[in-house]
Formats: sequence, C-alpha cells, structure tokens
Amino acid sequence: MTQTTLEFMAQNQARFLEELKTLIRIPSISTQPAHAADVQQAADWLVDRLVEIGMTEVEQIRHPAGRHPLVYGRWSAAGSDRPTVLIYGHYDVQPAEMADGWKTDPFTPHIIDGKLYARGSTDSKINVMSQLKALETLFHANQGRLPLNVTVVFEGEEESGSETFEAFAAAHGERLRADVAVISDGSIIRPEQPSLVCGLRGIISFEIHVQGPIDDLHSGHYGGSVHNPVQALAEILAALHDAEGRVTVPGFYDEVRQFSPERRAAWAGIDPIFDAAWHQVAAAPQPWGEPGYSLHERTGIRPTLEINGFYGGYTAEGVKTVLPARAVAKISCRLVPDQIPRQVMARVKAHLEAIAPPTVRLEVIEMDMGAAAVYLDEQAPAMRLAAEAYETIWNQPVLLEMAGGSVPITNALLPLVGQVVIMGFTHRGGRAHGPNEHIVIENYFRGISTAALFIEKLASQAAAGKAAHS
Ligand code: BES
Ligand code: MN
Repeated sequence: MTQTTLEFMAQNQARFLEELKTLIRIPSISTQPAHAADVQQAADWLVDRLVEIGMTEVEQIRHPAGRHPLVYGRWSAAGSDRPTVLIYGHYDVQPAEMADGWKTDPFTPHIIDGKLYARGSTDSKINVMSQLKALETLFHANQGRLPLNVTVVFEGEEESGSETFEAFAAAHGERLRADVAVISDGSIIRPEQPSLVCGLRGIISFEIHVQGPIDDLHSGHYGGSVHNPVQALAEILAALHDAEGRVTVPGFYDEVRQFSPERRAAWAGIDPIFDAAWHQVAAAPQPWGEPGYSLHERTGIRPTLEINGFYGGYTAEGVKTVLPARAVAKISCRLVPDQIPRQVMARVKAHLEAIAPPTVRLEVIEMDMGAAAVYLDEQAPAMRLAAEAYETIWNQPVLLEMAGGSVPITNALLPLVGQVVIMGFTHRGGRAHGPNEHIVIENYFRGISTAALFIEKLASQAAAGKAAHS
C-alpha cells in the first residue's frame, strides 16, 4: 500500500469507528417483524455510505418472497478487460435482550479495554464496515477510481432465511457475476492470530411437534394413563445420539466425505489454539463429541444434530399439576461435504417417524430448504492472495480453518463466480449470537487494511497476468 493510502487510513480511524458505531446502534434484527423498520434504516444508511464513497448503480433490491432489502452497488468503470470483485456482507443481526446476560445495552456500543461490545459488532457489522471503508480508502488513493470493477451486495436476511438473495441470484445472476467473490463474514481464530476459512458447514432446520391428549389434562385424573408428550419428546431426543455422541439416524453419515490423513494432519496445526479458545470461550466442564476427531474436526468436518430449544407444559412460577397436551423441539443439523440437505432431512424425518411411540402423534415441520456445506479450493490464487494480505497486516502466518457456521447464500454464488474467499475480521471469542458480543477494535482497522490490500493484490496480479499474455 502506498504512503497516501496508509496516511488516509490513519487519519480517518476515529471517523471509521464512529461510523461503525452508528451502524451498530440500529437494531437490524431480521427475524423479528417488529424490527423491520430498523432493518430498513440500516439499509438506507448503507446506501448513503455507498453513494458517498463513489459507488454507482446503488439501489435497494426487494423481492415478494423476502422481507428485507439487499443493498446493491457497482463500480464498473475499470473496464470490461479488468476483473470484477463481488463483495458480500450481511447487515442484519441476531436478536438480543438484556435478560440473555448482557452487561450493557446490546445496541449501545460500549468500549472497554480496546474492545467494543454490542449485538452485531462481530456478526457481522465489523466485516461490512471493513469492506466499505477499504473501498473508500481505495477510491481516495486512486483519484476517485478503483483498480478493478467492484460489485457490493449487503444482505439483510442472512440470519433468517436469505429469501431475497436467493430469489435475486436465481433471477438476475448476471448482476452478481464476478471473477472473485469476497464473503465478508466469519472470523479469525484469535485476535492476534489470523486464519482463513476454507470451508463452511451446511444446515437444515426443523421442528418436532409431539401431541398427546387433545388438550391439557389434570395430572391427577390422567397421570399414569397418558404418555406425557414432554416425556415422549425427551425420550425421542435422547435416542438421537449414542453414548459417545454419534448421531443414530440410519444413513446420517453415508455421504460424509472422509478427508485424507495428510489433509487432516495439515489442519491439525490449528488444534492447540483451537482447543485453548474452546476452553476459554465455551468453557463447558469438558469437551464432548465424536471420538477420533479433534475439536476443530468435530465442528468443521463432522455433521451434527443439535437441539436449539424445546418447550412444553407449565414453565411459569409455582406449581401447576398439569399433564400437557403437546411439546415442541427446534432442531438443526450442520452438514459437511458431501451431504445433500434434502436427503439428510428425509432420513432424519423417516427415523423420527419410525421411533415415535404409538402413544403420541409426531409431526416434523421443515423450516427451510437447507444449505449444503461449502469446501473451497485452498490452492486457488485468490485464497493465496488473501492469506498474503492477512499475513502482511497481522504479521503472522495464516492458519487454515474449516468453520462450523453456515453462510447459506454461498451456494447460490458459487456457480456465478470464479473463486470464493471468505474474509472475516472478528475473532472466534467474539461471542457471535450470544450476550456480550464484541470485537477487538484494532482488528477493525486491520480488517480495513487487509480488505484494501487484498483488492490491490488482485488488481496487480490481474495486470501482471495481462502483461504476461500480451
Ligand atoms: N457469520 C455467521 C456464519 C459463520 C460462523 C461463518 C462462523 C464462519 C464461521 C453467520 O452470520 C451465521 O450465523 N449464519 C447462520 C446461518 C443460519 C441462520 C442459516 C448460522 O451459521 O447459524
Ligand atoms: Mn450469524
């Protein structure tokens, strides 16, 4: 990066941080209809920022199938002989309530010891803003131009279904076409230790509804003669794993890719840091899960079946001698290469129907179409350039990670772009989706530099490639 670029970034740090805080103050919770106006406000704010830095064709894209707009912008004046980079991020956030254990108001950024606490800080407003401020810096450094063509798309439904993005990609794929897509989401392993995500797990979600008697009953009149649906659900749920933590659904692991011992040995470089982070962040009494796999592998290359919540019966204060009529569990499975979401869903459903006792009625309700896992080419040129960018800015070699989370729209992008790089600037300890979510502020500034450096590298590599061809 040139001296001017570095100076511009240094001089604007305070403003960059203020802008991140402004975006964070907007509670853009996509899953709760009551926050629709907030999600809209965040979209409007991002549109203004894109216009302000020099992006063109800026607009909000809505679809009847969706709930919240995509924020879209392009700058294509570099010319058709130059590559196009697509930058994806999401500006929606997970719900947050003080009662979940927040120490400060989730939507009032709270800075202490170089960290900024707020919902959406880590997931994923730091990533959105890093890309935005990197583009602003590049426009400034190149007299109002960019060194290649850029398309920006910020999604407002990543945390809750991605309907608009899916519909837009299906109908207008050409507007997302690019040589390289940067998925600006996800995290590095530790604040001081950069890592690059080379895989994301897929996901399916469903609910199990168990119905016993037609209505709640007096537990004295009927207790002992009716199979309590909460108990029946607990029995069903308990049967879904064996004693060692394997999922018992027949065929569940059939398509799971077996990675080579060499590949696994190379990933193992991350294990000491990964395990330490597990103990610090999860801090459960002991690890759990499939034998024969490291914690990184259990969360990265092995599929899971997770109970996200369950309810039934009387849960308020005091005693109520009731025999409840129904119970519900919310479940999601994380998928890995080469599992097919529909197929896994069908097997899970068939198994649940097979093990449900005849004393209750069971219904499985699928929540969405699911998303397949993603495994990127670790040797792809863009991946190398991304690693170089992180290494330069963090001054540390990059580790490779198979991430456990999912970014469902990645599947829709893959056929439209040449290469995909997943770039996150938050860290694994940032408590995404939990209370006291936070970022390390320094990593926001490093993120801006890394994102800008990556684009500069792509641009100069493309220029060098062209020179070599002519
Ligand atoms: N940022 C995460 C995805 C992620 C997590 C990527 C960890 C890499 C590492 C994203 O915002 C997210 O939480 N996605 C959801 C998708 C789901 C709601 C379909 C997830 O993974 O639970
Ligand atoms: Mn998330």
